[in-house]
Amino acid sequence: MADLIQLHDLQFQPFISAEQIARRIAELGQSLSKDLEGKNPLFIAVLNGAYVFTADLLRAFEGNCDVSFVKLASYQGVSSTGKINTLIGLNNELKGRHVVLVEDIVDSGLTMKNLRIQVLEKAPASVTIVSLLVKPEELQVPLDLPYVGFEIPPLFVVGYGMDYNEHGRNLPDIWQLKPS
Ligand code: IMP
Ligand code: MG
Repeated sequence: MADLIQLHDLQFQPFISAEQIARRIAELGQSLSKDLEGKNPLFIAVLNGAYVFTADLLRAFEGNCDVSFVKLASYQGVSSTGKINTLIGLNNELKGRHVVLVEDIVDSGLTMKNLRIQVLEKAPASVTIVSLLVKPEELQVPLDLPYVGFEIPPLFVVGYGMDYNEHGRNLPDIWQLKPS
């Protein structure tokens, strides 16, 4: 891992290594496999950020499952706009399904709160959330988060699917914005 990387106008420093991420995902996969055993869950991943996490998490899940992808972004630049955009891609039959929403990072919590409400309208058997990262100090709404990879301070991060203006998603490690 280099000491610093540059994306557009900003510099980022190492934060969570690919090895740490892999270890934590193995644990999350075990918990989910145990808690959802025999339930054929439907994982709904939130694009674009969660695509890398979803690929690793689902391979750490033992048992039958389905996966689907939705798009619902509220983020531009390095701070949440709080504005919720339209949901695209929720085409599955959710009635009676055990749904697991997969997110890269929960910041204000508005994205997950909004998606959860829209999913609940389709009468699933259950809805739970798994997020690789959460910034507890930034949460603006109460949200039940039973499966979290890492709780982090209110930092802007990139890598492992997460971007700064679309750059950085391909980085295997997670980087934090260098304090100026
Ligand atoms: P929320 O609705 O405020 O919880 O924002 C959640 C969404 O904002 C996530 O799906 C991410 O795509 C994005 N996001 C939040 N924090 C960061 C960050 O530190 N880096 C990159 N994207 C972020
Ligand atoms: Mg996201």
